[in-house]
Amino acid sequence: MSQLAGKKILLGISGSIAAYKAAFLTRLLIKHNAEVQVLMTPSAMSFISPLTLSTLSKRPVYTDVIGAEGWNNHVEIGLWADALVLAPVTANTLSKLASGQSDNMLVASYLSARCPVFIAPAMDLDMWKHPATRRNVALLEGAGNHFLEVGYGELASGLIGEGRMAEPEEILTRLESFFGQQQDLVGKKVLITAGPTFEPIDPVRFIGNRSSGKMGIALAISAARRGAMVRLVLGPTSLTVSHPNIEVVRVQTAREMFNASCEGFENIDLAILAAAVADYRPKDQASEKIKKSGNALQLELVQNPDIAATLGKMKKAGQILVGFALETQNEEAHARAKLERKNLDMIVLNSLRDPGAGFNHDTNRIRILHRENNKTADFELKSKAAVAEDILDSVLHYYLT
Ligand code: PMT
Repeated sequence: MSQLAGKKILLGISGSIAAYKAAFLTRLLIKHNAEVQVLMTPSAMSFISPLTLSTLSKRPVYTDVIGAEGWNNHVEIGLWADALVLAPVTANTLSKLASGQSDNMLVASYLSARCPVFIAPAMDLDMWKHPATRRNVALLEGAGNHFLEVGYGELASGLIGEGRMAEPEEILTRLESFFGQQQDLVGKKVLITAGPTFEPIDPVRFIGNRSSGKMGIALAISAARRGAMVRLVLGPTSLTVSHPNIEVVRVQTAREMFNASCEGFENIDLAILAAAVADYRPKDQASEKIKKSGNALQLELVQNPDIAATLGKMKKAGQILVGFALETQNEEAHARAKLERKNLDMIVLNSLRDPGAGFNHDTNRIRILHRENNKTADFELKSKAAVAEDILDSVLHYYLT
């Protein structure tokens, strides 16, 4: 029997040429014995008729909060659903979701829904790459929404690139695997470090790095979804995270990250250290802005505490410690040396030589190195959300069974 049998799916359709695919998706969901309630934005109705969707779903379609029949109860509808699937989502609707607007049934129901939300964007390649869209996607990902990757190919504009809506079969598979997914981290306490650290030089300058926090945040969201209670120690980033299972501790410097990570470590089952921590900080921080004088300026740097190595010493039997290694050459040898030196159980290697991997990308390509038996496993370039699942699967398989 399908994992979707009896599930209540709220399907939100916005105004894109890909809206026709929503009819196939409705049909597939109904075939898998799900109940489907369709919501359409007003512009979606220019692309596909509500009659088609109400016939396929066997329910009336809602568009406006105040419709011809009176007030449509978006709160009741939002709470009814086991999953809210938004497909296709245009750049306009994405921006409304990110900013919390509620001027149609689709976006109002999104605000009222307490169930998991799946977002399948569809737009032109330049709209998809635009910084405004990137910011909206990051914000919505940080709020725990599940994104379906856009496809590459010919777009309605005639241009070729990324922006095609995921196929209905892919969306169905994702929903099936979501509902089939075990809550395999229930009862586990997980510590995750993420993002950069900023080491102040004076009140306006700092030593930092290019980490965005995306990799660590993806890990925190995956672990929380799988039932863990997560403490996310997050360096300075504009990204936000919200999930009832995630406690976010915001820090700026390596020493603050060190303190927040060591605190309560004895109760942690699994720590994953994805942060890019500054190894050194300026010895002294000037209290006033340093003025330009002369041709050169010398800064004396002192070593920061190593969080991974310290936790490696504190670690007791049964506690699992996973590090990351960001390398640019001799990747595997450097990663294995860190694994040994910091007493880690597993290290996740990403190389800046791999296109699409490392800092700030939405994707990553990793190799996992285990302490025991010198085992390694290679993974393809994937979204950071999918990479996070691979890392947690690996931890569960080898260490938490
Ligand atoms: O944040 P994103 O933009 O998504 O980018 C993700 C990432 C590239 C930052 C991430 O995937 C990654 O590789 N993180 C580790 C980066 C790093 O600084 O690695 P490292 O090789 O210098 O450090 C090795 C390990 O020791 C890491 O687990 C690091 O968190 C830890 N460490 C390092 C120094 C220190 N003082 N304390 C530490 O805990």
